[in-house]
Amino acid sequence: MTTLAILTAAGSGTRLGRDLPKALVTLDGFPLVVHAARRLASSGVVDSLVVTCPAGLDAVVRDIVAQDPHVDLPVRVVEGGATRQASVAAGLALAAPDDDVVLVHDAARPLAPPQLVRRVVAAVRAGHRAVVPGLPVTDTVKRIAPRDAATQAPVGPPVDRVVETPDRALLRAVQTPQGFDRALLERAHAGGAARSGSEGLAATDDAGLVEALGAAVHVVAGDAAALKITTERDLLVAALLLQEES
Ligand code: C5P
Repeated sequence: MTTLAILTAAGSGTRLGRDLPKALVTLDGFPLVVHAARRLASSGVVDSLVVTCPAGLDAVVRDIVAQDPHVDLPVRVVEGGATRQASVAAGLALAAPDDDVVLVHDAARPLAPPQLVRRVVAAVRAGHRAVVPGLPVTDTVKRIAPRDAATQAPVGPPVDRVVETPDRALLRAVQTPQGFDRALLERAHAGGAARSGSEGLAATDDAGLVEALGAAVHVVAGDAAALKITTERDLLVAALLLQEES
C-alpha cells in the first residue's frame, strides 16, 4: 500500500503582488513548489507526487519539480480548477489503485518539515482516517457576525459585531499536509463537489469536507516552520527560517 501526496500549486497568489503564480515565486533561489516537494520527498513516507498547476503551466511545473535532484519521487502534474477544492479533486482523480493514504499539501507552505509529514502519515496509518497538523493560537479569537449596515455609526471606521469568544485553549490553527484514508477523502470530495466551483462556497481545507460528512478529524502537533506564505513579509520570515535550517 502506498501514500500519494497532492501538492497544490494552482493558485494565482495575487496577494503577493508578483506577476507569476505564488508557487513559482522563489525563496533562496528555488520556487516554493520545489521546496515543498523536496520536503515531502525527504520524509521517506511519500511514494508519489501529483502537483496541481495553473492553466498552461503544466510543462513548466513538471520540469522544475520532476527534474529537481532532491525530488526523487514519480511526479505527475495536473491543471488545477477554479478553487483549491477543485484543484485537489483533479489531483485525487489521478490516485493509483495502491494509494491507500493521501496527503494534501499546499506549495504555499514550502518549509513544512519532513518530520511533520511523517507525523501526519503515522497518525493516519495508526487508524485515524483524517489528520491535520495544528498549532495552539496565541491571540484571543472572536467570531463576528456578517457586517451589517444597520449597526454602523454615521461617522468613524466600519465595525463588526462580536458573536462569540471561543475558549482559546481549545482552538488550533491548522496547517498542511493533511492526511487521509483515500476512500474517506474521495467520499468527502464527492459529497462536497457541488461547492467546488465557487470561491465563496468551496472548502478552504480538505478536513472541512470530511467534517461535512460527519466523520471524525484528528489533530496532531503542527510546526511553526509550516507557515503559509501569503505576503512579502511571510517570504522574509521563511528566508530567516531557511537560514536557521542550514
Ligand atoms: O490562495 P491560497 O494561498 O489560500 O491557496 C492555498 C494553496 O492552494 C496554494 O498552494 C495554491 O497554489 C493552491 N490552489 C490551487 N488551486 C486553486 C487555488 C489555490 O491549487 N484554484
